[in-house]
Amino acid sequence: MVGPIGPARTRVGGPVAQEPSSIRLRPMSWNDLAMVHALGADLFSADAWPLGEFVAEFMRIAQGRRSYTVAVDSSGTLVGVAGVRTESAQAVLQTLAVSREAWGRGIGRRLLARTVADAEARGCREVVLHVSADNPRARDLYRKFGFQTVTVQPAYYRSGCDALAMRLPLRVTQPSLPAGSAPGPRVPAALRGSGQSPTRPSGLPVGTARRNG
Ligand SMILES: CC(C)(COP(=O)(O)OP(=O)(O)OC[C@H]1O[C@@H](n2cnc3c(N)ncnc32)[C@H](O)[C@@H]1OP(=O)(O)O)[C@@H](O)C(=O)NCCC(=O)NCCS
Repeated sequence: MVGPIGPARTRVGGPVAQEPSSIRLRPMSWNDLAMVHALGADLFSADAWPLGEFVAEFMRIAQGRRSYTVAVDSSGTLVGVAGVRTESAQAVLQTLAVSREAWGRGIGRRLLARTVADAEARGCREVVLHVSADNPRARDLYRKFGFQTVTVQPAYYRSGCDALAMRLPLRVTQPSLPAGSAPGPRVPAALRGSGQSPTRPSGLPVGTARRNG
């Protein structure tokens, strides 16, 4: 049984009047899921994840297999999200999204920095991602961050667009944490032990593609 998501304490979208410094990053909570889903639906259209996928991702945080960060402004509006899969030495960026009204204020860069730092802290040795060939904003952000294109995957997205597979090597500062050893989020009682399964067919790459990263 899946408990109700929301009512969310945060709102998504709307004008973002604050200076970038007023944007706060924090771990994603259960109450953010509806807004995170809405943000993805707005930005990724056909490749957006269904809500159930974010529920499944949330459960994986508790197992130490994911790390998700949201950006909120001073009024509590959710303006961004980033998530990374950290269950092996190769971390996979699952999603990176900033609400349109907040683009160009450094929020994407901050979310990416936090996400990469999380992967590094968990002992991952590299971060990989897919980005659409026709997404210059994101490509620029990743390139400036140090990601390098490894390969091009033709027609990776539902739109038929190619994806660039990019990679950033990490400094290894500590041994990998075993899955489950990282502090997890508060999971609603209705979900504990429910064995929620992802709605994405297994084996389908996650992230930008058919993914949100
Ligand atoms: C890509 C995205 C996350 C960037 O977020 P953002 O908060 O606007 O990014 P930032 O303000 O931190 O800018 C970081 C970099 O992005 C690039 N960028 C920002 N605005 C840009 C613009 N108008 N044109 C081109 N590149 C731009 C620049 O490289 C910029 O670095 P700079 O500030 O040193 O010039 C955001 O545009 C977004 O959510 N896009 C839709 C979803 C998406 O494509 N996600 C990534 C999927 S792989």
